[in-house]
Amino acid sequence: MSDIEIKRGLKDVYFATSEASFIDGNIGKLLYRGYNIDDMARNSTFEETVYLLLFGKLPTAKELLDFDAQLRANRTLPREVLQVIEIVQASHPMDVLRTGCSALGCLEPESATRDQHQVADRLLAAFPSMLLYWYQFHAGGKRIETETDDPSMAAHFLHLLSGKPADEMRIRALDASFILYAEHEFNASTFAARITASTLADFYSAITSGIGTLRGPLHGGANEEAMALIERFQTPDEAEAGLMDMLARKQLVMGFGHRVYKNYDPRARIIKQVADQVFEVTGKDPMLNIALELERIALEDDYFVKRRLYPNVDFYSGIMYEAMGFKPEMFTVLFAIPRTAGWLAQWQEMLTDPEQKIARPRQVWIGHDTRPFVPIEQRGTGVVTR
Ligand code: COA
Repeated sequence: MSDIEIKRGLKDVYFATSEASFIDGNIGKLLYRGYNIDDMARNSTFEETVYLLLFGKLPTAKELLDFDAQLRANRTLPREVLQVIEIVQASHPMDVLRTGCSALGCLEPESATRDQHQVADRLLAAFPSMLLYWYQFHAGGKRIETETDDPSMAAHFLHLLSGKPADEMRIRALDASFILYAEHEFNASTFAARITASTLADFYSAITSGIGTLRGPLHGGANEEAMALIERFQTPDEAEAGLMDMLARKQLVMGFGHRVYKNYDPRARIIKQVADQVFEVTGKDPMLNIALELERIALEDDYFVKRRLYPNVDFYSGIMYEAMGFKPEMFTVLFAIPRTAGWLAQWQEMLTDPEQKIARPRQVWIGHDTRPFVPIEQRGTGVVTR
């Protein structure tokens, strides 16, 4: 047995430098290019945040106007992509996004005339159209127009979802959640996108890697799973008993814990405030009492306190999204769409970092030493079931 230390889950492994975002998990601090996440969520828009992440500075009014127009101009999808999306009717929305991304990559590949930045703008703008086209086709057999003149991606998304322009409160709430999800240093999906980028593969490939990785319940899929957990209980008492039972069975409680935050996730605090504003309009969701009870236990119970497990952003975003009329299976794509901005910013860093190398770790070998090949007729008649 080797004495090499294996870093399970790459815990505490430093892979590259980055200027995109900074987390101090001990005090619950998150910065986007030096700007506090609270300031961004309160004062910015998703498009402005994307600009900041991509260009490293806040845009001037003119720069933002041009960038908004550029994104708006990229909303329409080629007929062939729509046809692919129509075929994958019974899929999970994350699979639709991954498939749509690949399909667009086949039709509009990076080339001498379409550079990586154009592809990036295209994907950012096309994802909501892709997803809502699929949703409307699947839900009611409608082939919707994906072009709207809504000024923001959040407004565009909500418009395509309900078939009419959305109200300001919903737009602002979705926009704020997009800002919170936009970037989060070397999480699993960003790392996956970076690994793909490290081979100098095209941007579509890097993004499909990111989408596939984000889908899992330990990562982006946690918001859907957290909602499923909350919906399991009818009353706060039931929630308490159910949670204790889960801990006794050593089950993971979805929506709690984080690899880096060992304090309150600042995004969770902000989304909770945004959710409160949504509830003022939609009325208080009964699920909120269940969620608050689960949170109360987590903040007081020894199990959570000792391990420094706090509710994360995914715990609250689901309740808010549900109050806004989203189905739970949509929750993870509401994370993936804005995170495309972070993948993009980090992919740019990767390609411009002269020190960067192809990602290629080593294994600790625990298999057989060299052994003689056995001809098939000498291997017996047994059947091993998998
Ligand atoms: N519920 C119950 N116990 C949890 C837990 C959770 N959600 N998250 C971590 N723990 C426990 C672990 O079992 C472990 O306990 P132990 O010391 O007795 O073995 C301890 O806390 C440390 O956890 P560890 O597995 O080392 O944390 P990690 O950094 O590898 O994992 C997550 C981080 C996010 C994957 C993990 O907290 C998790 O699975 N959370 C639920 C999924 C989720 O909400 N993901 C979204 C993240 S934004």
